[in-house]
Amino acid sequence: MQYLKIVEQYGSPAYVYQLDSIDLAFQDLMNSLPTGSRIYYSLKSNPHPSIIKHLLNLGAKAEVSSINELQVALKAGARADECLYTGPGKTEKEVRFAIMHDVKWFSIESWTDAERLSRLCELHQRQVNAIIRINPSKPANQVGLSMSGIASQFGIDEEGLDCIPDHICKNHWLTISGLHIYQSTNLMNSKDVESNLKYSIRIMARICARLGIRPELLDIGGGFGCPFAKAGPRPDFSSIKPSLEQVLDEVFPQWRKGDPQIAFESGRYLTGESGTLITTVTDVKTSKNQTFIIVDTGIHHLGGMSALGRIPKVAVQMLEYPKHRLYKNATVVGPLCTPLDYLLREVSLPEAQPGDHYLIPNVGAYALTASLMGFLSRENPVEIVMYKGRILDVSRIVLSRTEGNYN
Ligand SMILES: Cc1ncc(COP(=O)(O)O)c(C=O)c1O
Repeated sequence: MQYLKIVEQYGSPAYVYQLDSIDLAFQDLMNSLPTGSRIYYSLKSNPHPSIIKHLLNLGAKAEVSSINELQVALKAGARADECLYTGPGKTEKEVRFAIMHDVKWFSIESWTDAERLSRLCELHQRQVNAIIRINPSKPANQVGLSMSGIASQFGIDEEGLDCIPDHICKNHWLTISGLHIYQSTNLMNSKDVESNLKYSIRIMARICARLGIRPELLDIGGGFGCPFAKAGPRPDFSSIKPSLEQVLDEVFPQWRKGDPQIAFESGRYLTGESGTLITTVTDVKTSKNQTFIIVDTGIHHLGGMSALGRIPKVAVQMLEYPKHRLYKNATVVGPLCTPLDYLLREVSLPEAQPGDHYLIPNVGAYALTASLMGFLSRENPVEIVMYKGRILDVSRIVLSRTEGNYN
């Protein structure tokens, strides 16, 4: 279905996700990773139920970091014992919820996190596995958004990791079954991804030897990048496979037999390219020689992380523009009452008028749910999922308040 027809039928703004693009991304990622690798889909990048379901059907497992993510994964068909629960600052409530719903795999980010899990699984008599998240002593390279090798809330520092506390080792309900490293995110260059992952594998081998862990699962992370809100293809990471396999052969010689199971995590690489946001111009005005094009979407629907200082540079494409005059100095803004609500500043764009539409490509990941959805209490865009040219489902996220007593 064409985008114009979608706007006519479902209104604007609208997110359209193409599952065909997820098929290709999943296949490309599988072809880039050591044979037999497990892929965890990081729901944080896009928790749309149809996207999760599709990725589960392709063979991905769910990586979740909240009760709601776990619930949506289970509802989409994930097996609880195959989900991986990650994240710093897990609460008693969520750990209990996950354990009671038969989640078996947890990444632990500190000894406090481990102790909480250990206590709760013993209390509720549920057998669980933990993989220790390591913060390497140094970063492999300083690219992307580094989350490790630096002072960070993520993982346990490699340098202080000499033993596993006694009370955790002695708890029969909890098994330390492997390691987890997630170094950086959104790497666009395969050499950077390769050196990060090789570095992580070697650290894991050292730590397993040091702590006497016989790993069942090694989650080596990812960092597989994808363009955000601008046109362009996903990077090609296929060159990393042979060299990762070589390092694994060297340090974990039984890995090809699944001992240990090798796993990676990915969000944006799998879903980023699948999403397009359609928006409509509501006003065009001039102020002090600058053109302002006001559209019906903004940081409440896209790139809301700009409010946290991560201002995305988005690109818009006009869906249809019969006029050919260019604005030399146009700013595209959203409807929110803050000057922070802009999509593009001082760019050259074709002349527009109310009713015209723009498309923003590559917004299948960290878009709607990573934005300031609640700000100004505006309606969320409709979300349309398409597969093989047909609409699979149409939905809208509604934020609602429930009343009652909560603990
Ligand atoms: C631990 C962990 N795993 C997976 C991801 C997903 O990252 P991406 O969507 O870039 O693949 C992140 C993102 O920050 C993360 O922190």
